[in-house]
Amino acid sequence: MLCNRAIKVNAWTQWGKLKTVVVGRADSACFQPEEPAFKGKINNKIIEKELDWPLGRKKQRVIDRANNQLDNLAIVLTRLGVNVLRPSPIDFNREIKTPLWQVNNMFCCVCPRDVMITIGNSIIEATMSKRGRFFEYLPYRDIMYKLWDADHYMKWKAAPKPSMNSNMYWEGYWSKFNSFNIKSEDEQHKLLHDYKYVLNESEIAFDAADITRCGKDIFVQHSMTTNLRAIEWLRRELDGLIRVHTLKFPYDREPSHIDCTLVPLRPPRSEQRGVILTNPERPLLDKDKKFFKDNGWELVDVPMPSKINYPMPTFCQSSKWLSMNLLSIDENTVIVEENEKDLHVLLEKLGFETIKIPFRNVFEFGGSIHCSTWDIEREDSSEDFFRTPYAL
Ligand code: ARG
Repeated sequence: MLCNRAIKVNAWTQWGKLKTVVVGRADSACFQPEEPAFKGKINNKIIEKELDWPLGRKKQRVIDRANNQLDNLAIVLTRLGVNVLRPSPIDFNREIKTPLWQVNNMFCCVCPRDVMITIGNSIIEATMSKRGRFFEYLPYRDIMYKLWDADHYMKWKAAPKPSMNSNMYWEGYWSKFNSFNIKSEDEQHKLLHDYKYVLNESEIAFDAADITRCGKDIFVQHSMTTNLRAIEWLRRELDGLIRVHTLKFPYDREPSHIDCTLVPLRPPRSEQRGVILTNPERPLLDKDKKFFKDNGWELVDVPMPSKINYPMPTFCQSSKWLSMNLLSIDENTVIVEENEKDLHVLLEKLGFETIKIPFRNVFEFGGSIHCSTWDIEREDSSEDFFRTPYAL
């Protein structure tokens, strides 16, 4: 599987020419266990009445059809000349216990994006924010040791594991929004803008997918899966190398993972503005919009997701905005889900070549094309695309 040429751990952007990438696998995948940070929602009114959120392993045929689409992505990438690595699944259908808690089973290794991130020549293993995902770094350890042996400049960083004890989570969270629609507009506005999510600030906790890279700058979403303490940990860890910015999206009631909300595609160059895809239902704060625009970026709202993909599959826990969860091969080429026709048109108008692949069968395993990959090597550098500071 590894590789006829030397790998260099190097990724500063979301768009540099992709050389080496990891594609997830669905083997042994389970339903995410319910726990303080996760309540399952079944997207089908009839089934929802009859069934509790399931435990244990998913049906083999559901796993197989997801694996077909993941394997196809791996083939498409290989044909494009990208080196593809795959994780080593463990048996996720095992109870896990720490001295402080236990859950019935783990989840899967479909979404390396959530767990691992390459920043420059460092790879950081995220703490994760959910108990069922505590050990999700394990399927990537074979890859990590291969990279460690292949590239003597690689840095391996693991963020401090949180206890995931009950006091890390705000119990009232799940009832907080139950009455959301009967509140006045002012009250709704206040609720959305107090940024109180299920994860509190008692310990450092984050998922890697809340981070997006733009050269010398990374943007980290404050969310259900990443708290402010974690963003401070990243800031200190990367100090001197990278500027770490916090982004908040108040209109996302359950923010988790930035790659369905803000997707940078190509940087500003003297002759053209940079392009960042934005989510029309999750606008940036005005000060952040201004920061991007002042630095030469155009913010382009994506179209509404395709009616073919929405409603989402019955056990999918992501929103319809998986539509924008695409993977850049380089500054001009992106891999997009095949049914998202309106998005293809928009991207083509913006000058991108779109490679369309089927991926809907992967949605219930945690995400789409971006989530199920983790870039190890891109041709890029720590270029500074943000010389104009935040206006006060
Ligand atoms: N929580 C996001 C949404 O529903 C889905 C994010 C999926 N991304 C990922 N890296 N797993 O819009």
